[in-house]
Amino acid sequence: MKLAKYSLIVGVAATAVLAGVAQAKDPRTAAQADDEWNYLMAAVEKGDGLWHNGKLGSNGLACGNCHPDGSATNPHTWPKYQTNLGKVGTLRDMINWCITVGRGSCV
Ligand code: HEC
Repeated sequence: MKLAKYSLIVGVAATAVLAGVAQAKDPRTAAQADDEWNYLMAAVEKGDGLWHNGKLGSNGLACGNCHPDGSATNPHTWPKYQTNLGKVGTLRDMINWCITVGRGSCV
């Protein structure tokens, strides 16, 4: 009986909390929300432009040439020994290799 009583209280409390969360209003004005969205999308477009820019490095290849749809960007832990680098390298070393040394040796 006690367990049922507590379960009911917990259930009512959880429902009240969830209802409060559902009704929480965005503290931003519509104009502020638009500004933030536009700022975010400008960054996304800039990143997309860089991803497809073959002039970023010196081998004429863009990230997207070798990593179509983000392939082979599986999360490894860096630094690590990397065959392409022939040494223990950082993620920065790897990306630098990608756009300076890598030549069609796409994954
Ligand atoms: C010439 C082809 C080529 C180009 C161009 C290229 N990559 Fe790579 N990238 C590779 C290869 C090959 C690997 C090594 C994959 C492996 O050993 O698992 C790699 C690995 C990576 C990794 C490490 C993935 C992991 O498993 O940790 C990242 C991150 C990455 N590239 C990002 C980029 C970015 C950002 C660009 C553009 C600036 C780029 N790559 C351009 C071929 C390329």
